[in-house]
Formats: sequence, structure tokens, C-alpha cells
Amino acid sequence: MAVKEKYNASLLIVLSILIIVVMAEDPYRYFQWHITYGDIYPMGVKQQGILINKMFPGPEIRCVTNDNLIINVFNHLDEPFLISWAGIQNRKNSFQDGVYGTTCPIPPGKNYTYALQVKDQIGSFYYFRSLGFHKAAGGFGAIRISSRPLIPVPFPPPADDYTVLIGDWYKTNHKALRAQLDSGRKLPLPDVILINGRGSGAKLNVQPGKTYRLSISNVGLQNSLNFRIQNHMMKLVEVEGRHTIQTQFSSLDVHVGQSYSVLVTANQPPKDYYIVVSSRFTPQTLITGGVLHYSNSAGDVSGPLPDVPDSMSWSLNQARSIRTNLTAGGPRPNPQGSYHYGMINVTRTIRLVTSAGQIGGKQRYAVNSASFYPSDTPLKLADYFKIDGVYKPGSISDQPTSGAIFPMTSVLQADYKAFVEIVFQNWDNIVQSWHFDGYSFFVVGMEFGKWSTASRKIYNLNDAVSRCTVQVYPRSWTAIYVALDNVGMWNLRSELWERQYLGQQLYMRVYTTSTSLRDEYQIPKNALLCGRAIGHHK
Ligand SMILES: *[C@@H]1O[C@H](CO)[C@@H](O)[C@H](O)[C@H]1NC(C)=O
Ligand SMILES: *[C@@H]1O[C@H](CO)[C@@H](O)[C@H](O)[C@H]1NC(C)=O
Ligand SMILES: *[C@@H]1O[C@H](CO)[C@@H](O)[C@H](O)[C@H]1NC(C)=O
Repeated sequence: MAVKEKYNASLLIVLSILIIVVMAEDPYRYFQWHITYGDIYPMGVKQQGILINKMFPGPEIRCVTNDNLIINVFNHLDEPFLISWAGIQNRKNSFQDGVYGTTCPIPPGKNYTYALQVKDQIGSFYYFRSLGFHKAAGGFGAIRISSRPLIPVPFPPPADDYTVLIGDWYKTNHKALRAQLDSGRKLPLPDVILINGRGSGAKLNVQPGKTYRLSISNVGLQNSLNFRIQNHMMKLVEVEGRHTIQTQFSSLDVHVGQSYSVLVTANQPPKDYYIVVSSRFTPQTLITGGVLHYSNSAGDVSGPLPDVPDSMSWSLNQARSIRTNLTAGGPRPNPQGSYHYGMINVTRTIRLVTSAGQIGGKQRYAVNSASFYPSDTPLKLADYFKIDGVYKPGSISDQPTSGAIFPMTSVLQADYKAFVEIVFQNWDNIVQSWHFDGYSFFVVGMEFGKWSTASRKIYNLNDAVSRCTVQVYPRSWTAIYVALDNVGMWNLRSELWERQYLGQQLYMRVYTTSTSLRDEYQIPKNALLCGRAIGHHK
């Protein structure tokens, strides 16, 4: 064969392989999860936990951009149950979001198969139990979405990936905690911090000279946490699906619900080093230690625990320094900076101010004075089946209102494709954390004090990080930009679980008159029906 023909033949083969790759359906991964009660010993004494396939924390989901995840969940508990996927965007498919406003709970003895697609996503996230204060019984696990082969990742492959789930924890059973909230009383401070489900003894093994990726998520209930490793720097590389400017930190603040990936190189004399997780800006500091163990370790942990400045400004400055690497790729081959969010005109400004108060003599929390009470029917199903009287779009103001807090099934209506500015204002003395399901948003600004239109002067309109969970410092504001490109009913909530449970949340109904499947999928064939949706035809 002539050289040219050979070349043509191989080109043809390459082309047909390319076509097969393009045409092939995105891969499927199947999971079967059994949810049970079981004995756990996070603080050395027996406690009742909620296990997934007998595991606490639950199994880790490792997948690749665009994978379909089919997760059949069997509820063996004595109460209804839901799993939600913080950070998985469930594009066009809020039915699968697994919060009570979108999905009917799985009754005891029954199962439900979630069908998720991690469409155009990479990064480190986690799942958790969204109903009935189950989050306090465990029931969380990591989700790790790797880049597809051939899509460049802006750092060399690490020697290994470690998941580090950190979070505050109560020794009290979740039912007792829930009863306390239901009776109108606040919770005490948490008892301890867990690292990967353990109050002590967590260990990461490393080999000298090698670099490891740590995916750190705060799966706790209310405390901001600081993570650090004695004598080791951490290079931040990814925040909730965004590759960042790679900055070295000696310690990292991880607020409730947030996830970060760092690279740690075992470049110190071979011995054991402290890993420290401590609560931030709390009346009393909780602290839990673990160990970074070198395979050729010559000795035990020693020396003082590494410290962190107890300064809110330090934390704020660290947050502001976390920026997107505009030239690095994300889930797609094009650079993350090719979407110029700073040049898009804002079509609406939503200001959300939090408050606390009493309703019927019971402690409640509110957003723009509305304290969220769930309806008897998931809002998304009411929408889909056109059931009147479950909620009213626009039942919460998009500007702060004066006056006492009131009960409401709060739903904010917004137009599909609107480009929205949301300002969170926190007048409290604790660090808040906010999560928006279905979306990733640009954190354009945060500052102490009261937000005003003049605050926009300090916005980062160039390389702000895009993420799904953001903190708001005490007596401070945080502003985000979000392109509402995902039709559905999406939960916007406080990640401080007591406050979320007692009303600090709402739903954003991202609405279009179009009924095209290009904009939103239909209800899943296997969807469970409950409340007033029972008897409707899917
Ligand atoms: C429950 O599990 C069975 C298989 O064991 C499956 O066929 C069925 O679709 C599941 N039910 C739901 C509602 O997903
Ligand atoms: C940004 O990403 C590019 C492309 O991967 C990489 O070469 C560069 O080192 C990164 N820059 C920083 C500051 O992280
Ligand atoms: C944004 O608004 C300005 C002023 O109203 C207008 O000139 C500009 O064309 C708009 N830009 C886009 C991208 O719509």
C-alpha cells in the first residue's frame, strides 16, 4: 500500500472511532443501596446511626463527567426517607433532587430508583439525607466526578485520592434532636467533630515524595470548620466543580456544606503529623485530630498542634483569594474563562435577609420574614399535575420586608434564562452558609457590613469562583450572580440544619411556558406519588 493510502486508511479508522465515541450513549453506573439503622461508635460509645449498605459514612460514588447514575434505594427504616445530592445539578430534572419540595419520600419498606446524570460536571461533592433531621444520624457520602479521558486537568495525576468528610456531630439520637426542634426549642452546641465518621483515630497514609488529592467536604450541621495538617501546605485546586488558581494554604476554612480539593505533597521528614479540624468562630472551640502517616515513618506525632488565626478578616480574605483559573479547562475542553459572566446584564436583583423569631410560641427562622413550612405535596409535583392550593408562586418577596416573621410555603418565581444577582445579608453573629440546588453560581463579592448598590464597585467581574455553597459572615453580606438556565423547582437553603429545619429555606421556581423536553424532562416513570399527587397519571 502506498504511504498516502495507508494514511487515508488510518485516518478513516480514526474518524470512525471518533464517530462511535460521539454517538455512544453516556455510560451508566448502577448502585443498590440498603438503608438501615445500625450501631456506630463515632465517639467510642454506641450510638444509633443510619447506614447505607452497613457503612457509615456511606459508600463513595466515583464517576466521570456525563455518567448516568442509577441508584436504587431501599428504605428499611421506620420513617420516610430521602437522599439529596448537594452539587449534582440534575439538569432539567428537579424531580430527582431528593428534597421534600421536589420528590416524594420513600416510605418505610419501599424503594425508589434515582436516575441522575452528572451532565457537564466535574469535582467533589457529597450526598446526604434531607428529611426529618436524618442528617444528624449520618447518611452522607462523597461523590467524585472525574474529567473524561483526553480532557486536560490542570495538575498532574495524584498518587491517590482521599475523601475527607468533616462535620460537627451530636451524641444525641436524631429523633430526640428533632423532637426538641419540633417542640420549639433550639439545639445545644454540637458535641464533637468527626473526620470520616470518627471522633478520633482518622488516618491518611502517604508515601514520601508523593502528592495526594484530598477532597474535603463539611457534612456537618452548623459549625464552620478549619482544616490543617502540621508542617504541610495544601495547594487548592478545585472548589465544587471549578478549577481554581492554585494557591498554597497552611489551613483552609470549610463552611457547612462546602467542598474543596487540595493537593498535599509528603515532602517532610518521614514521621507522623497531626491533621487538625477545629470549629470556627464558635463560643467554644471543638477540635479533633487525625494523623498523616508516612509509610516510612520514624516516629509518632509530636510537637504543638498547628494553629490558625482566630480572625474573621483572615477568613474573609482567604475566601476572596479563591478564584477561577480562567485558562484551565473544566468539564469541557474549552477554558473555564470562556463564559464572560461579568459582561452579562443583570435582569433582576434578589435581596435575602435572614431573621429569627417565634411563631405560635416556637423558635423559627426566616428569609425576608417568611419562615418556610413544607406543604402536604411536593411543590414540583403540584406544579406538574397542576394541583391548586399547594403553594403560590411569588409567596415570598424578593426584597427584605419589615415586620414579624410569618409561616409560608415560600416559592420565588423567576424566568428561565434570567441572569440574577442574589444578595444574602446576615445580621446574625454566626457564620451562615447557603446552598442552591440545581446550580452553580459566581461569588462576586462578600464584605462586612450592610450591602448597598455602591457595594457593586468591589464585585469581582472577572475571575470569581463558581460554586454551589457560599458562606455569609456575621453582620456581613455575600453577593452571587446566577444564570437561571435550569428549569425546575430548586431549593435555596441555609446549610445550618437547625435553621433549614425551622424555616430558613425557600424554593426558586425557574419557569418557562415552553413544555419542550429540551427545557425540562417529564416526571420519571417510577416517581412515587404522595399527598394530593396520589391518583394522578404520570
Ligand atoms: C424498586 O426496585 C425494583 C427492583 O428491585 C425496581 O424494579 C423498581 O423499579 C424499584 N422501584 C422504584 C419506585 O424505583
Ligand atoms: C491555570 O491553568 C493552566 C492550564 O492548565 C496552568 O498552566 C496554570 O499553571 C494555572 N495557573 C494557576 C495560577 O493555577
Ligand atoms: C447591557 O445593557 C447596556 C445598557 O443598557 C447595553 O448597552 C448592552 O448592550 C447590554 N449588554 C448585553 C450583553 O445585553
